Amino acid sequence: MSLSRVAEAPARSGIIDSVDDVTPVVIASIAKTKDPRAKEIMEAFIRHIHAFAKEVRLTEAEWEIGVDFLNRIGKQTTGTHNEGVLFSDAIGLSTLVCLMNNGQDGATETAAALLGPFWRMHSPRTENGGSIVRSPTPGPELFADCRVVDHRGQPIAGVEVDVWQSSPAGMYENQDEGQADMNLRGKFMTGADGRFSFRSVKPSGYPIPMDGPAGDMIRLQGREHYRPAHLHVLCYKPGFKTLITQVFVDDDEHLESDVVYGVTSALIGGYVRHETGTPPAPGMKAPWYSLDYTFHMEPGEAHLPKPPIA
Ligand SMILES: [Fe+2]
Repeated sequence: MSLSRVAEAPARSGIIDSVDDVTPVVIASIAKTKDPRAKEIMEAFIRHIHAFAKEVRLTEAEWEIGVDFLNRIGKQTTGTHNEGVLFSDAIGLSTLVCLMNNGQDGATETAAALLGPFWRMHSPRTENGGSIVRSPTPGPELFADCRVVDHRGQPIAGVEVDVWQSSPAGMYENQDEGQADMNLRGKFMTGADGRFSFRSVKPSGYPIPMDGPAGDMIRLQGREHYRPAHLHVLCYKPGFKTLITQVFVDDDEHLESDVVYGVTSALIGGYVRHETGTPPAPGMKAPWYSLDYTFHMEPGEAHLPKPPIA
């Protein structure tokens, strides 16, 4: 079938006579999909992946590599590691989806950022001002005193705030037997002034896991595999769209080369170093860092994501 014939009359039979028959035949074959959104997504996926194969003239050997790559993503994924999320992050898809679905459908700057592969449910509930350091963790101390506001700038009380970060050694507790379970993770509740606060250590940058297919891809691309230092935050309260975000350390050398493309200008926080003065909590010693960041929540539906790891 010629291209012009495709345009005039989509294929009605399942018989494939040429390269140009494949896409219309496949699209026609899923015409009875009842769910209109599922149909729209699958049709577009088929159109685009067929067009991709045609554009690069995909060879059989390259197709084998691609299928093997997908299979390896599945095999690499365990209860404590999510290679699928890592791959999506490393091709910028997670950030694209995040920006399209936040900030008034992508029209304005948003406070949201990708979830990443390391969020765990059931972080320990911690009093405001308490520490999320649950086993000896080296590094300069951090006191975060942050607030959550609505689209009018008014403080929101009663927001559940999940925070998680890697250790200064560059690993999350689930990657590192040397850390206590749930080290550097905690769940807080904002007070009447919309504020929550906690003690921790200054976040450090880290290399993403490079022992799977996502790592192979990044090596092939010849680019860095580091994330700039950041604190992950998830704000949840019914009546508001769940805010999933990260606050980046402003002096990090990898701010402009985040391997998973998570850095936006709005998310660079002011981590202020203090050499002298009265520490904000008993027992803290100079030098310490402070962070005062304001999180903006949009009205909407509260929904918790599926945890990437157990
Ligand atoms: Fe992270």
